[in-house]
Amino acid sequence: MIKKRMGAGLTVAVSIALFAGGCGGSGSTGDGDKSSGGSKSLEVFSWWTSGSESEALQVLQSAFTTAAPGVTFNNAAVSGGGGSNARTVLATRLQGGNPPDSWQLHPDQDLMSAVEDGSVADISDLYTSNGWDTKLPDTVKAMLQKDGKYYAVPVNAHRANVLWTNPAVLKRAGVELTDTSTPADFVADLPKLKAAGVAPVCLGAKDSFAPAQLLEAFILGGVGVDGWTQLLTGKLSFDDAKVRTAVTQFAETLKYVNVDSAVLTWDQAALQVTDGKCAATLMGDWAFGEYLAKGKKDGTDFSHVIFPGTAGLFDYVGDAFAIPAKNAPNADAEKIWLTQLLKPEVQAQFNLKKGSAPVLAGVSLDGYPDYQKDSAAAFQKLPVVSSLAHAQGAPAEFANTYVDAVTSFLGSKNVDGLLKTMTEAQKTQLNS
Ligand code: BGC
Repeated sequence: MIKKRMGAGLTVAVSIALFAGGCGGSGSTGDGDKSSGGSKSLEVFSWWTSGSESEALQVLQSAFTTAAPGVTFNNAAVSGGGGSNARTVLATRLQGGNPPDSWQLHPDQDLMSAVEDGSVADISDLYTSNGWDTKLPDTVKAMLQKDGKYYAVPVNAHRANVLWTNPAVLKRAGVELTDTSTPADFVADLPKLKAAGVAPVCLGAKDSFAPAQLLEAFILGGVGVDGWTQLLTGKLSFDDAKVRTAVTQFAETLKYVNVDSAVLTWDQAALQVTDGKCAATLMGDWAFGEYLAKGKKDGTDFSHVIFPGTAGLFDYVGDAFAIPAKNAPNADAEKIWLTQLLKPEVQAQFNLKKGSAPVLAGVSLDGYPDYQKDSAAAFQKLPVVSSLAHAQGAPAEFANTYVDAVTSFLGSKNVDGLLKTMTEAQKTQLNS
């Protein structure tokens, strides 16, 4: 996230919060409070604009409008996978003292940047009144708090280290990837996949997070959970031999990607797999939601394997919503909105559409596809690490440096250059 500054002297241009009439001010968190009337709105800011993302957001919208029928839901989604455009727009708005009522962000370091710059409100009261404290996994709770206070409500757990495959193409090429395959095995299979007449790997590099996430998968496959944590705290150098191997494997893989990678978005690249133009694509399981939204069938149109070398870990990309600490347009509506997000039935319906796993304990997975059941189980039992490509695992500046370095690398293929840039950034941009 771009650092936001909201100096006290900034002119505030906000819509006046008209919601309060009879609601008792911002302390009122009345779930399902229907006492409000008049022309009120709730503006929710996200980067959910693909088919499955919009459908999932619609679940949240419906839950809100049922709970607050007098309030208009204003969907302020800004397109651009991974949120790169949305984050720029949001930063400008926050800087101008014109926040939306609520916005999407990631737990962990992404949220911590927002807490540090004072843009997100302390919502610990909602955690107490809804008993969320006892219903969320410790790993997730730790990523939502600073100094014992909560600042966002999580909605899901996406797994980033999934390789989506075309089973017919793999069969034709005589390639079998399993949970015990290594990154080296995968790279060794690329020529066989090419010989089958397809692009071995589809990449949607128009979304800059996509190649960054692919390299992340190789690095995770090389260094594992502890190495990843050390890498993001500067205790393991990016110049380590295992990271170098991963970057070299990534460079080799780039020789086998689709020729139109620069102009495809993540979802377009994912659909090239089901169209039989590519053998595989590395993408978070929002791709699973997108496949189902497009009517694709798991097991025939597509399949998956956890990215080689990473079956023992869950590369976590979470979505969460926060509300403004200052200039809240409609504080009461904001709290009603947040209150809906962790209701078990909302969690069940939302995650089903989104391709992710619910974060709340005890949510029914009845009717969930096997992939999502497995992923929900993996989230509970495997070590969880936060994604760097999505700015969840490290401070914004470092994550931006990483994504920019990968973008340059697509052209230069300069392994030494990338390792040098990142080693320098570890020294200057990481909290020690
Ligand atoms: C978000 C997902 C979203 C994906 C693609 C990720 O950063 O966590 O919810 O579907 O970007 O836009």
